Amino acid sequence: MPAKKCDFPEGALRIRFQPGTRNYRQRNPMKIIHSIREMQAEADRMRANGLRIGFVPTMGFLHEGHLSLIREAGRRADRVVVSIFVNPTQFGPNEDFAAYPRDFERDRKLSEAEGADVIFSPAAEEMYPAGHCTHVDVDGLTETLCGASRPGHFRGVTTVVTKLFTAVKPHVAVFGQKDAQQAAVIRRMTADLNLDVEIVVAPIVREADGLAMSSRNVYLSPSEREDATVLRQSLLAAEDLFRKGERDASVLIRSVRSMISSKPSARVDYVSLADPGTLQPIDEARSGALLAVAVFIGKTRLIDNLILP
Ligand code: PAF
Repeated sequence: MPAKKCDFPEGALRIRFQPGTRNYRQRNPMKIIHSIREMQAEADRMRANGLRIGFVPTMGFLHEGHLSLIREAGRRADRVVVSIFVNPTQFGPNEDFAAYPRDFERDRKLSEAEGADVIFSPAAEEMYPAGHCTHVDVDGLTETLCGASRPGHFRGVTTVVTKLFTAVKPHVAVFGQKDAQQAAVIRRMTADLNLDVEIVVAPIVREADGLAMSSRNVYLSPSEREDATVLRQSLLAAEDLFRKGERDASVLIRSVRSMISSKPSARVDYVSLADPGTLQPIDEARSGALLAVAVFIGKTRLIDNLILP
């Protein structure tokens, strides 16, 4: 039996009902937008058509972790916007901004295949024109964990995410749990500034051997890549201690540190057991606490975490 097509107004969600199969969305070709004004106009059009906008902010060089966020946004919205912008203001002077991996063409294909409707990819001058001097600061939450070793990083993140939100005007934005602190800071900022955006945090996506997916994994040499699995293994070993009854945070932290230190290329930046909302360190381990690590494997700084069961 031929597919029965339903007519919808221009720009609205078009659905083709095919008897015997799952209904699926038929999409317009993906748009690539570089200007903030044009992105805002596109967002206004989508909103005027009653469409819910899902947003996945990224710095590009997409991997399966990002693709899972795009899929999550697709489940929660009618249209999905993916931003690709390597944000200079969240990198410290001695960090890897210049070397950060970039491949727009690959990102374009992957986003399109995953069903993204728009890629928003502004130039740095578009986001930070001459004279730009407004920043967003979230106090307290940004001073612990990664904030302690990367001063200014979260100010760059919160500023750019606010600017991306005002460009994309999303109803829902999806972030990854791998950057647990970033997710907590964005949640706090969104609540404090009364931004009308639902924040969703999606689970960490891992390689088969447990290494959390990250654009920075491409920096690792083969032996470093092997050593990098210790992040996950050390967290799981501490989780096991917790399951067996250990509640002293210092014991769990020592266990993670000593496992990581056994790898020749590894140097611990921090290991912390923290309250998942305030991100302040806690002395007594409890269910729901955030166990987080940052480790240099060679010159590459990797992070990972888990929530105690
Ligand atoms: O998580 C990231 O990739 C970045 O910190 C973000 C949220 C895209 C802001 O630049």
